[in-house]
Amino acid sequence: MTAIRLHSDNRRIEAPAEMASFLEGEGLIYRHWDVSKLREELRDNYALTEAEKTEILATFDSELEQLKAEGGYVSADIVVLWEKTPNVEVLLGKFSREHHHSEDEVRFVVDGHGVFTIRGRSGPYFDVMVGPGDLITVPAGTRHWFTLAEDRRIKCIRLFQDPAGWAAIY
Ligand code: LAC
Ligand code: NI
Repeated sequence: MTAIRLHSDNRRIEAPAEMASFLEGEGLIYRHWDVSKLREELRDNYALTEAEKTEILATFDSELEQLKAEGGYVSADIVVLWEKTPNVEVLLGKFSREHHHSEDEVRFVVDGHGVFTIRGRSGPYFDVMVGPGDLITVPAGTRHWFTLAEDRRIKCIRLFQDPAGWAAIY
């Protein structure tokens, strides 16, 4: 389930309103969108065809268009991490090293779970444990890393301000 854990004192924040205000104070956008509007087969399915990816993006079109307008995001795609993703261990190895990007990292979790560990503005790190329906942005320049949770899979929509510029800076 969605929660925040502070590394400094191990405190957990689980109440939605408290989570939202904590993340807002850290400069992150946090939203929760309704994943039940997505066809069941598209939630469980990780071997997506291009047509199915397009259908997932279309299902959240109004939410995505609003967020694009707010954040200056211009493109969207689907990323899937599971046992059959080519080079998944190499990818996860990269994601689990601390890095930042020159643009915002925007992830909407369609299915599965993950943990973003983020360096707070005032120094201490915190974990954001995300699951289906959670949308999170890691602002440009913010140090972070990412790991999977016990279910070892996640399916996300990503939004980009400049797809050409997407690279990790270690
Ligand atoms: C990325 C994440 C997972 O850079 O931090 O794609
Ligand atoms: Ni990143």
